[in-house]
Amino acid sequence: MRKKLIGVLLCITMIAALLAGCGTKPGSNDSGKKIGVAMPTKDLQRWNQDGAYVKEKLEAAGYEVDLQYANNEIDKQVSQIENMITNGCDALVIASINGGSLGTVLKDAKAKKIPVIAYDRLIMDTEAVSYYATFDNYMVGTIQGEYIVEALDLKNQAGPFNIELFTGSSDDNNARFFFGGAMDVLNPYIDEGKLIVLSGQKEFAEVATPGWSTEEAQKRMENLITAYYADGTKLAAVLSSNDSCAIGISNALVNGGFSGDSFPVLTGQDCDITSVKNILAGTQSMSIFKDTRTLAAKVVDMVNAIMEGKEVPVNDKETYDNGTGIIPTYLCEPVFADADNYKELLIESKYYTEDQLK
Ligand code: BGC
Repeated sequence: MRKKLIGVLLCITMIAALLAGCGTKPGSNDSGKKIGVAMPTKDLQRWNQDGAYVKEKLEAAGYEVDLQYANNEIDKQVSQIENMITNGCDALVIASINGGSLGTVLKDAKAKKIPVIAYDRLIMDTEAVSYYATFDNYMVGTIQGEYIVEALDLKNQAGPFNIELFTGSSDDNNARFFFGGAMDVLNPYIDEGKLIVLSGQKEFAEVATPGWSTEEAQKRMENLITAYYADGTKLAAVLSSNDSCAIGISNALVNGGFSGDSFPVLTGQDCDITSVKNILAGTQSMSIFKDTRTLAAKVVDMVNAIMEGKEVPVNDKETYDNGTGIIPTYLCEPVFADADNYKELLIESKYYTEDQLK
């Protein structure tokens, strides 16, 4: 009888342990803490990768994750963040759609002492932002500028070479850093007369692309071709701050009859699959590789440090002022990718499979 009772008790304990095991959240050390992760859109490949990596790494560290995409709609992102706060998240990681539109909702986060990490894009004009993690955005621009300088051999050639300029969305703080970095490299050659912006469109506001839209970039490139290059005038280079714009520019150039040697040097950023394919086909020259796995891992380090009350890893305390003061930042390093090094950067590092680029 006694033996039977012990047997039954043992059975009950084992079943309870099994059931508890089933309910365990993914991750080695379930912290019981919840992190809200707000991403801008699924339209662009990079944000899908960013979201997936951040979620995976946070879960592996024992957090529960609420990951939301807002279809590039500002109101939607605001209400997603509102819900994350209401549902009791312990920290927020936000890649904003419009850096200046989150002040009101984040007041609530600050009142509830929920730390906020701005992811990739700085969130402007709010004291709620605790930290910022991104790639060195200015360096992205200088690498693109230097690529054009080398491709056209501007140090040795007299030119003049025609160039057109495209950057990103004016509501994205990063765009000014990308464009600023590139123009700091290119402006001396423009001043010297070796580079000529035939359209005369050189100011940030004139060359910005609303929403980083491929269609908008394509439309503007088509208009530039019609107005300045339809008679066969040579276009030597197009500066594009990222791949979503470069894809539109490339489409316009291909449709406009540019090919082979007449195809201008065209820059990009993100190593989106479509752009890498264009690089291999000769209809884009380079892109910037920002390994989102590195950024995601850094953000998880930051979250861990905040949650454990430890020193948060940052390596820049002077560059990024969001209008309320400097935000301590971790800058990851971007590198350029082209047809010569893509295999090592993208395939050997297992960022993409060879098949994805076919
Ligand atoms: C990111 C770029 C991206 C662009 C468009 C920027 O804030 O840093 O990597 O291409 O947004 O989504």
